[in-house]
Amino acid sequence: MIFRIPTALATLSVSLLLVSAHPGNGCSLYKRQTATCPATYAPVAEGSYPALDCVPFVEDPQVQEWLKLVNFTQVPTTAVSNAGACPPDISTIPASQCWWTCQKCVAPTDIVNCPTPMTWGLTYDDGPSPDSPRLYDYLKTHNQTTTLFIVGSRAISYPDTLKRAYQEGHQIAIHTWSHPSMTGLTNEQVVAELKWTEKAIHDILGVTPTYWRPPYGDVDDRVRAIATQLGYKTVIWTQGFDTNDWDIPGGLATPESVVANFQSLLAEAPTMSTGFIVLEHDLYPQEVDVAINSILPMAYNTTGLTIEPVAKCIGDFAPYKEGAGTFQNEGGNGTTNSTLAQTYSGASAQQESSSRLAMVALTTSCLMVLSGLLL
Ligand SMILES: *[C@@H]1O[C@H](CO)[C@@H](O)[C@H](O)[C@H]1NC(C)=O
Ligand SMILES: *[C@@H]1O[C@H](CO)[C@@H](O)[C@H](O)[C@H]1NC(C)=O
Ligand SMILES: *[C@@H]1O[C@H](CO)[C@@H](O)[C@H](O)[C@H]1NC(C)=O
Ligand SMILES: *[C@@H]1O[C@H](CO)[C@@H](O)[C@H](O)[C@H]1NC(C)=O
Ligand SMILES: *[C@@H]1O[C@H](CO)[C@@H](O)[C@H](O)[C@H]1NC(C)=O
Ligand SMILES: [Zn+2]
Repeated sequence: MIFRIPTALATLSVSLLLVSAHPGNGCSLYKRQTATCPATYAPVAEGSYPALDCVPFVEDPQVQEWLKLVNFTQVPTTAVSNAGACPPDISTIPASQCWWTCQKCVAPTDIVNCPTPMTWGLTYDDGPSPDSPRLYDYLKTHNQTTTLFIVGSRAISYPDTLKRAYQEGHQIAIHTWSHPSMTGLTNEQVVAELKWTEKAIHDILGVTPTYWRPPYGDVDDRVRAIATQLGYKTVIWTQGFDTNDWDIPGGLATPESVVANFQSLLAEAPTMSTGFIVLEHDLYPQEVDVAINSILPMAYNTTGLTIEPVAKCIGDFAPYKEGAGTFQNEGGNGTTNSTLAQTYSGASAQQESSSRLAMVALTTSCLMVLSGLLL
């Protein structure tokens, strides 16, 4: 972890303005667009959406309707974080908060691995983007489906790309509207981020995802409680199983270092009592390049490795409120395989997380550096 910090600081010094203006992808050092978010509330017009890459206003009548879906007396009254940054003394955080970012806490309901050993729950975050079709093309030639964690602002920018992903049988899931640190938002903003993304996806595809992934993995029991009441399962990734592909566009990683990360994950896989889930992205060309030129070819070259979307790896063949949608082509009969679903255990996830603390520290170093400077 330590050796990365000087590099991070160098990049940070030129990027700090951008960072404080708006949190972006990865560790917020870079971003496709610099959003200028409206300072004052105006209602979202009928058939329209909130400003791209901006936390939606909660005063909006549509958001006010969505708030009725949550019983807030059942949501823990945890303090809102400073944009996901950990306090200087982490021991001051109550254990019951189960804050992934700072306490490395995995809740029993978090999906952080696939139950079957040598099974990789494949995921890509932050799309759809102009580079996503290259990823979809590659996956198609391998009859491969994946879980795609969709940013609402990208969905309405590239609806045809999202439609293609859905039609090709990928699992479509939620990754928030503007990609914020969710623990840094109020309860009402958390609802707005999730439901606007759900609405955008439903408007485009006609189905309602039942899975979401918090940006940066930044979730605690307050945010989980809201997501659960809205009907979403929370997916993170196996502790430490971050390729750092999101660091390539910012210059903090190289395709070679990302491949080396993945190689060490692959080497660990046969020693694990469960399968695994890896963090990867399809927002930037470099991320798609490393996926299709190196990571996936290596994986297909690995004997005994099964690669499938997260819902399938936990035995769920119906990952939408409406049922299977196009996902039924992927296997099963459009219902949940309760045999497999029961195999998934939050307890084993917890155990694994504590044994891998060191690796986690490395993968989140960028966020931690940022946190320190912004506090
Ligand atoms: C909300 O939850 C509280 C606490 O569990 C419960 O007493 C109350 O009846 C619930 N309210 C509604 C409208 O369901
Ligand atoms: C993909 O599926 C098609 C049709 O079932 C089959 O012909 C083809 O060989 C498969 N390709 C791979 C790489 O498995
Ligand atoms: C696949 O495995 C073979 C044999 O171990 C190796 O020679 C080859 O370089 C590998 N290809 C990739 C893409 O990793
Ligand atoms: C459910 O999962 C079990 C265990 O992996 C497998 O043996 C079975 O064939 C699956 N059933 C269906 C309908 O996919
Ligand atoms: C689908 O598979 C599940 C699990 O094997 C089984 O319980 C269910 O009856 C099946 N449903 C249909 C309609 O075949
Ligand atoms: Zn993301």
